[in-house]
Amino acid sequence: MKYNFDKVVDRKNSDSKKWCNLEELYGTNDVLPMWVADMDFKSADEIIEAFKDRADHGVFGYTWKQDSFYEAVINWVKKKHNWDIKKEWILFTPGVVMGLNLGVRELADEGEKIMFQSPIYPPFYRVVENNNRMLNVSPLKHNGEKFVMDFDDIRNKMDKDTKVMMLCNPHNPIGRVWTKEELTELGNICMENDTIIISDEIHSDFILKGYKHIPIATISKELEQRTVTLMAPSKTFNIAGLGTSIAIIPNDEIRTKYEKAIEVMEIGNVNIFGALGLEVAYNHGEQWLKEVLEYIEDNIDYAVDYINKNIPQIKVDRPEGTYLLWLDFNGLEKSTDEIFEALIKVGKVALNDGRAYGENGDGFFRLNIGCPRPILEEGLKRIEKSVKSMVK
Ligand SMILES: Cc1ncc(COP(=O)(O)O)c(C=O)c1O
Repeated sequence: MKYNFDKVVDRKNSDSKKWCNLEELYGTNDVLPMWVADMDFKSADEIIEAFKDRADHGVFGYTWKQDSFYEAVINWVKKKHNWDIKKEWILFTPGVVMGLNLGVRELADEGEKIMFQSPIYPPFYRVVENNNRMLNVSPLKHNGEKFVMDFDDIRNKMDKDTKVMMLCNPHNPIGRVWTKEELTELGNICMENDTIIISDEIHSDFILKGYKHIPIATISKELEQRTVTLMAPSKTFNIAGLGTSIAIIPNDEIRTKYEKAIEVMEIGNVNIFGALGLEVAYNHGEQWLKEVLEYIEDNIDYAVDYINKNIPQIKVDRPEGTYLLWLDFNGLEKSTDEIFEALIKVGKVALNDGRAYGENGDGFFRLNIGCPRPILEEGLKRIEKSVKSMVK
């Protein structure tokens, strides 16, 4: 192992959303932040060194997208997901959520429906509602072992007015890596209704042992033609602050709509460090990623084991991807406000409140385990203390 991920990096006073925004969100700074999905690890040495060199250069003007950016993306997508993509299919967007936003605006008119499956990463709701499109939400169901898609419900709710299906794969917050069978069935329903798929695959490099990420666009040529795939090195290499991501759009008509919107909004300039970060990450970050994945896998085992042994009131499924755990506190039979208060005031630990992820997120909290083990150990102790304060 080259990297020591046990080393705690002090992120206070680093303009970190996770560490510096606590008073506003949780009413106090005296909490351990285990919420927003970035990791508390330093990025790969190769990325840091490249940034130092660029900083030493000292001129930070507008960027131009070189062939080498495109090649880095093409090679990564081929190597990781066995998908042959063409240079002209790749657009750069300032963030994956912007990629969702553009799709909602360009592929559906006001009043038309956008479908996705809850519980889900909260901006999925916002991009639909803020653009005056209609929510068409299909709740995931739990089959006793894991969350699965509810195809009966999807079939019932999807119609010709549902212009877009926003897929999240791997799915944040529940951590499923959708299987070929699931993606095929979903894809078939979308084709029957002439619905375009926007597939948010930002977590696709965080796949745990035994699972395989399949971009839905690779299921068939027909699906490739009706899918916008959003990817980024941001979660993978812990460079989310750089706001640089990609949309892969094989269909000419859909891509032209995206291109026009990017032009109209004048958002086509890639951040100078974002462009560099993407290229270096995809070309040279593999060793770091391999090691961080092993660390994450161990953290997940540790956390799931700890919860099962010491906090049996909380239910948790082992995720198949991501570095997020979706904790079910419903067994406590307390209101979510009470649980939230105990976490903040008794345990002093900040998790994401599940209610932001949809109605069926009530009673759940999301825990981010992308941190050094000492922080994870401390966080779990704090969750345990909060729960014990409610059951005594
Ligand atoms: C599913 C999903 N999509 C998008 C994002 C954010 O993407 P960006 O910061 O590139 O807009 C996140 C971050 O947590 C996420 O989990």
